[in-house]
Amino acid sequence: MNQPVMTGVAALNVPAYIKHQKLIDWVAEVAALTRPARIYWCDGSQEEYDRLCAEMVAAGTMKKLNQDLRPNSYLACSDPTDVARVEDRTFICSKTKEEAGPTNNWMAPAEMRTTLNGLFDGCMAGRTLYVVPFSMGPLGSPIAHIGVELSDSPYVAVNMRIMTRMGKAVYDVLGADGDFVPAIHTVGAPLAEGQQDVAWPCNATKYIVHFPETREIWSYGSGYGGNALLGKKCFALRIASNMGFQEAQSGQGAGWLAEHMLILGVESPEGKKHYVAAAFPSACGKTNFAMLIPPKSFNGWKVTTIGDDIAWIKPGADGRLYAINPEAGYFGVAPGTNTKTNSNCMACLGENTIFTNVALTDEGDVWWEGLTKEAPAHLIDWQGKDWTPASGTKAAHPNARFTVAATQNPVIDSAWDDPAGVPISAFIFGGRRSTTVPLVTEARNWVEGVYMAATMGSETTAAAAGQMGVVRRDPFAMLPFIGYNMSDYFQHWLNLGQKIGAANAPKIYCVNWFRTDAEGKFVWPGFGDNMRVLKWMLERIEGTASGVENVFGLTPEFKDLNWDGLDFTPEQFQQITSIDKAAWNEELKLHAELFEKLAYHLPQELVATKAEIEKRLAN
Ligand code: GTP
Ligand code: SPV
Ligand code: MN
Repeated sequence: MNQPVMTGVAALNVPAYIKHQKLIDWVAEVAALTRPARIYWCDGSQEEYDRLCAEMVAAGTMKKLNQDLRPNSYLACSDPTDVARVEDRTFICSKTKEEAGPTNNWMAPAEMRTTLNGLFDGCMAGRTLYVVPFSMGPLGSPIAHIGVELSDSPYVAVNMRIMTRMGKAVYDVLGADGDFVPAIHTVGAPLAEGQQDVAWPCNATKYIVHFPETREIWSYGSGYGGNALLGKKCFALRIASNMGFQEAQSGQGAGWLAEHMLILGVESPEGKKHYVAAAFPSACGKTNFAMLIPPKSFNGWKVTTIGDDIAWIKPGADGRLYAINPEAGYFGVAPGTNTKTNSNCMACLGENTIFTNVALTDEGDVWWEGLTKEAPAHLIDWQGKDWTPASGTKAAHPNARFTVAATQNPVIDSAWDDPAGVPISAFIFGGRRSTTVPLVTEARNWVEGVYMAATMGSETTAAAAGQMGVVRRDPFAMLPFIGYNMSDYFQHWLNLGQKIGAANAPKIYCVNWFRTDAEGKFVWPGFGDNMRVLKWMLERIEGTASGVENVFGLTPEFKDLNWDGLDFTPEQFQQITSIDKAAWNEELKLHAELFEKLAYHLPQELVATKAEIEKRLAN
């Protein structure tokens, strides 16, 4: 009896300011398929945001937090089965399997369309279809791209308002015939007439699908993060990486890069400023690094944020690479964040924040593991249950997150939304490795840097559903996000390096903050102290610091880093920089395995680089 009622098509009610017939027709078409009870066109206003939040509070999806402690902030708790990205349900449906490559799930586009048409048939019954127009990148800028997400989740609508430039102004840019990426999202939980909704509707069946040829996104069954906020991973990484590659392939330009990278500015006491971009896998410290607070002893050094998760990078007229942050907000990991590890981040979260899957205090504020040394005596955990320190469970989900506007960042860079982007002086790649990989290594040239990035490994985190803590190859921290063949992507990087030339190419570094001791404790203090490594990199760029060559590249000696204000011994330094030949021989076997998997179109320069490393290692 629980069959969704198939009502007729809801009235379109197109606002008069929308002049784009193709867009209107598409909304009508999707509504005819999904059959929502209502269609609502988001304008992006504060009034609308407040109203949708109030509606979600009334529906039990969100709780309003204590207005004095956490003004205009909310807590949403998801279904326990819908807490992270679902990589095994993510598909790149290019024409051929080879174009998606061996690291992506693939299905023939026609077959996938048949599946999706079945799933989306009536999937929004009883719900509102929200039309969410957004720009990735500053509105109207020549590097920005527009998307429109049709979603039956009000949680998605309000999060998109924070994470992107969302609202009415997008239609001015679109005009009557502007290009946009169509993105359709449903939680996959149609409501029968009179059926009571649940706090977090979702479906056990999930599909996160990309059609690169037509630049479309279809997402089914999840309301969480990257599965549902389609401007982020789906558009700004998977579709955009494909766009940047296609531009070069078609000969219409040099091409560009869409990367899983933070961008930060760092200024020395002498006023010399550089921008660097860093790719770390999910939940491996991008947000922290992007807002880094230098140690007290680094008087006069300033770090400012351009972005914390995604970078779009293009060669500029002067031949250098320029990067923009296509996002407008942060969807960051809460657990582990506190005033010691990242007080800038804590300052972002003072108000106007949506928290997802953290715990609720008796005062109506939020808490998560690591926020304070001692946990409160009583909490409501992320699953709505009473919690005490004796519960033996985590009060916040390990992938609990906050959504907050970039403008709340106290160290936002003045150029953070400059459409021209900022020139990049260095790329940093870093995985989470308890062994083997040293603190920092500088590549001797672009190809060696691309090799380091391509063969990067990292222990998996709670940011994706599935097993945690196992080392997997995560090339460029893009394994879950590349929208085409991984080997073609390596080649695209090599080609771009060649195009800009060695004089313009940023230096490339590989870092690892996560080496552990015999007790499993991190040896490197990390967080603000990462400034010590960053400073060495800048001095290398300026040509004032030295290092020693080893089998993979160039590394600093103890004397090359600044240790003011930190009690860190040469023995400890040795612990995190030593190169264990046996471990590296094993590591290289994993590189070989990766290269075997990626053999189709694998650039020969990378194979040659591997052979050179092997030769040096054997000596
Ligand atoms: P996504 O948003 O998932 O792409 O991840 P992110 O790379 O932005 O992750 P984030 O900065 O939020 O880091 C999350 C985790 O990394 C938290 O558990 C932090 O405590 C931990 N972390 C960040 N920086 C450091 C560091 O320098 N050292 C150590 N040991 N942990 C760190
Ligand atoms: C990541 O997993 O890398 C994230 C979070 O940045 S999500 O948007 O959920 O993908
Ligand atoms: Mn990310």
